[in-house]
Amino acid sequence: MARIIGGVATTHVPSIGKAIAENKQNDPYWKPFFQGFDYVHYWLAREKPDIAVVFYNDHGLNFFLDKLPTFAVGAAKEYRNEDEGWGIPVARAIEGDPDLSWHIINALVADEFDITMCQDMLVDHSVTIPMALMWPGNKRHPVRIVPVSINTVQHPLPSLKRCLNLGRSVGRAIESYPQDVRVMIVGTGGLSHQLDGKRAGFINKEFDKLCMDKLTGEPEALTRYSIHDWVEQAGAQGVEFLNWMAMRGALTGQVTEVHRNYHIPISNTAAATVVLENRTKAERKAA
Ligand code: DHB
Ligand code: FE
Repeated sequence: MARIIGGVATTHVPSIGKAIAENKQNDPYWKPFFQGFDYVHYWLAREKPDIAVVFYNDHGLNFFLDKLPTFAVGAAKEYRNEDEGWGIPVARAIEGDPDLSWHIINALVADEFDITMCQDMLVDHSVTIPMALMWPGNKRHPVRIVPVSINTVQHPLPSLKRCLNLGRSVGRAIESYPQDVRVMIVGTGGLSHQLDGKRAGFINKEFDKLCMDKLTGEPEALTRYSIHDWVEQAGAQGVEFLNWMAMRGALTGQVTEVHRNYHIPISNTAAATVVLENRTKAERKAA
């Protein structure tokens, strides 16, 4: 049976891709952010996931305002990236896992999530930057992915509760997958940031801390915020935290935060990285 080993959540700011391309990981501006990945690399090398289910938000590369699904699940053999206009190199294509994709799609629809299924899907910086951070170098990524996109762009957005429940449904689907694979969950984006309007550059350190503090043990506590509350507290693009909520929901066992890095700012964003470990009760007892 498939096992959910844990989750990684991280910011996906495009300029990180430029820093990688220019080898700036040790520059004073970038170091506090990149060094937050040392633990992630250690954890991935130890845990050896086969597949990553990635909750992210498309920013106009695959979906645009004319047609924007609330939730969409990739079911492709491969996911390509294209030039999004950020001045960063186009990332290499990432291998998919159509079998697990269709298993998750079937389970989500049976669970009354009316998702869009995509057998052809481009992935933007919201997927490619976290992948490049987790597996640096130009080699082929050692995991296949199942991308799940959540609309954080065009209102009305799904609620925090709905995204937590989406994640829970995905988690149950993975647990019922008969293949012996090790699955990790990824959530990208956030934390607080606002890219436009009067509050451009807005960051809320106290709220970010509260979100990270609640995420592991009390994610339900965050569902009392409406999307409008969230925009007020975390900025217009801070709603990308919906991807973090879905990631957390997919961790179905006992969850422990084993790593956290928070650094302000990277570009306009409060940059954060967390690693959550997921253990079933039986695994806990055996340990
Ligand atoms: C920035 C942050 C984002 O989440 C994004 O998608 C694009 C840009 C930024 O801070 O520059
Ligand atoms: Fe973004």
